[in-house]
Amino acid sequence: MKYAHIVGWGSVLPDKVLTNDDLAELVDTSDEWIFRRTGIRQRHIAGPKETTTTLAFEAAARALVVAGIPPSQIEMIIVATSTQEHIFPSTASRVQDFLGATKAGAFDLGAACSGFVYALSMAAQAIATESVRNAIVIGAETMSRVLDWEDRGTCILFGDGAGAVVLQGSSIPGGVMASTLRSDGSGGEMLSLPAVYQNPVPMLGKESLHSRHKKNTITMNGRQVFRFATKVLSESVEDVLEKAGLSIDDVSLIVPHQANVRIIESAAKRLKISPDKFYMNLETASNTSAASIPIALCDAIKSNRLHPDDNVVFVGFGGGLTWGATVVKWDVTPPEISPLDRELKRARYIVARGRSRLKQIGRNIGARLGGSFAPDATLKDAEKGRKVK
Ligand code: ACO
Repeated sequence: MKYAHIVGWGSVLPDKVLTNDDLAELVDTSDEWIFRRTGIRQRHIAGPKETTTTLAFEAAARALVVAGIPPSQIEMIIVATSTQEHIFPSTASRVQDFLGATKAGAFDLGAACSGFVYALSMAAQAIATESVRNAIVIGAETMSRVLDWEDRGTCILFGDGAGAVVLQGSSIPGGVMASTLRSDGSGGEMLSLPAVYQNPVPMLGKESLHSRHKKNTITMNGRQVFRFATKVLSESVEDVLEKAGLSIDDVSLIVPHQANVRIIESAAKRLKISPDKFYMNLETASNTSAASIPIALCDAIKSNRLHPDDNVVFVGFGGGLTWGATVVKWDVTPPEISPLDRELKRARYIVARGRSRLKQIGRNIGARLGGSFAPDATLKDAEKGRKVK
């Protein structure tokens, strides 16, 4: 049995910033209203060349530099996201390719804003059972692409970004100590993002289940979500601490999903603790769904809010409905990394891209020569009715 320690972390926010004043030019709202009701002043928005995959890759690359582990030693990559460009290939598979993590399995995990906590728990269990030694867990989102920019009840809340942690197995006690994961699908309608099933299905007629979604943008019942969130945030913290055999006094920091300052303050009241025990960065980063906890974690480390031997709780809640929490015994001091070292380590990703491109070219040449290993060739042969070896 191994312990899954967090040994690396990294995050990225797109350069473009959209302030509340900018938003007030798009919808009937104001900086004063948004800040007072949510605690948000601005959000980051992905540029035309940025995608969930590129943000996820950048966060993972930064986390690997801190961990000092080469991508070739990573055996599992999980991307928690609701804004993947493709259902398949998964975002995680594309990140695996960009990193050149040739020995890694990779998959996306969908648990909305709770996704990072779910993914962390899955990866920690894979390490605990010794099926893998090193794993990367990423939360990445481009929420700006699934927002209805005419709906002031939702478009003011969300932003884009990614955060990642590297987990490593060790026999030294510490790291991820306990997790609790929960779901209540009966509340699914409270917060929803339809998939892109907009093509009519001829044999089912116009009113088929999937064709009724006109747009794939987020819909939310804000008040109901608010009530749900304040309840499960405090309950999750209590449940996971009980499981870990700890009390709230043993906890140095809680890094919650960054949804709304009022939700967090209300949870603090229920837990009878100061809101200062919660790390919050949503004033500048907003709600980045599955990415919000690892981005906040990175900011907390930069602000010197975490020290070796601290117990830190990550707690998420969101669509599904889903919620969950994880307790981690923090045991690393941020390493000194020179800019030169950082640049040298990035060179390996240029090599990885080159290797990936060569593989693709090799497959295409194989297909042209009629080789049976290439998917293209298999498909073409099947179309011609030829026997495929
Ligand atoms: N600007 C100005 N006025 C607004 C805006 C806005 N952006 N949005 C709503 N209003 C108005 C409403 O129309 C309403 O006006 P009315 O009284 O004339 O009808 C009034 O403000 C109050 O509306 P409420 O919806 O009751 O406002 P509330 O105080 O609940 O705040 C909010 C809305 C911020 C969305 C809040 O409900 C909330 O934060 N809910 C939780 C949402 C959340 O965190 N979701 C994400 C969690 S999970 C995840 O991250 C995916």
